[in-house]
Amino acid sequence: MSVQQEITLQSDMRRVVETLHGEETSVAPYRREYRQLLDNHGKMIRATLVVLFGRAAGGNAGKLDGQVITGAAAIEMLHLATLVHDDVLDSAPIRRNQPTVHTTAGNKAAIYLGDLILSRYMEIMAQIAPSTDFLREQASTVCEIVGGELLQEAARHNAETTLDYYRKAIGGKTAALFRLACLTGVRLGSQALDPALLETARAFGDHVGMAFQIMDDIADFDLAHDTGKPKLEDVADGIYTLPVLLALRDNPDVAGLLSRNDPKLVEDYLQLHPELIRRSQDEAMRHLDEADACLAGSADAFQSATIRQIRDVLRRIRGQL
Ligand code: IPE
Ligand code: MG
Ligand code: MG
Repeated sequence: MSVQQEITLQSDMRRVVETLHGEETSVAPYRREYRQLLDNHGKMIRATLVVLFGRAAGGNAGKLDGQVITGAAAIEMLHLATLVHDDVLDSAPIRRNQPTVHTTAGNKAAIYLGDLILSRYMEIMAQIAPSTDFLREQASTVCEIVGGELLQEAARHNAETTLDYYRKAIGGKTAALFRLACLTGVRLGSQALDPALLETARAFGDHVGMAFQIMDDIADFDLAHDTGKPKLEDVADGIYTLPVLLALRDNPDVAGLLSRNDPKLVEDYLQLHPELIRRSQDEAMRHLDEADACLAGSADAFQSATIRQIRDVLRRIRGQL
């Protein structure tokens, strides 16, 4: 990536951070929590994808349209809202190295704060929506995300969960949001919609999202790698992710191990069978390769400078494998 491009992306992302920082709630008793939640953002990969696909759609040069920046901040808020709720469901004590809001303000307030952020996301998107199609896509994707979370919830402690079921659940809870981020960038980046670019954004986002969730699930077992959240949380909560499901498929006796509700036993088993993590990594890698191939397929539609930056995001994600 050229220095100039890097500076441009950094300044776009600074505008996204400023937008999030400018968000306030009128609900006085929870102003501080609302502020803390919006200011403790993570790496903002989803917002970065909105920005880059916005540039891909609208031309790479000059100052990026304010609506793309606003849309990127709103997508980050949607993500944050799902995390606040997810942390209540998973009883997670820490996220992004900070105590989660339900541990400081209680479950009830956390649920409403998640709802408040979700409502603001909707309000912002309604303000900048270029079409009703845009809003329909936002709404149906939120349904997909929640549907994925519910599929996961329905399978808690179920050792019969199939690989396809798992893929469907993560396809909803995570890949749908990555897809939405890319599509939101394209739709806000230019009034003239390019169908080929929309298709690229859709397929690229889906594959990156699948890879991202598989990697997040692997990282939950990687005790040596700090993710700012607790380890062995999924299996402790009865959420069986790819390495565990592969273990169950290879050896049905693993169900007995899981029923003992001791995450350490599962982690020991994975240590003894390193191929389970390797095969999971391979599946993530295949999605990243597919995502890369989506970009190659539509080289004409993209400004090549933007393609390089999107590839750079892929490289950073791949580097965590
Ligand atoms: C949650 O998945 C993803 C959402 C859609 C909220 P995880 O439960 O694996 O996320 P972490 O590990 O808590 O971040
Ligand atoms: Mg969680
Ligand atoms: Mg996780």
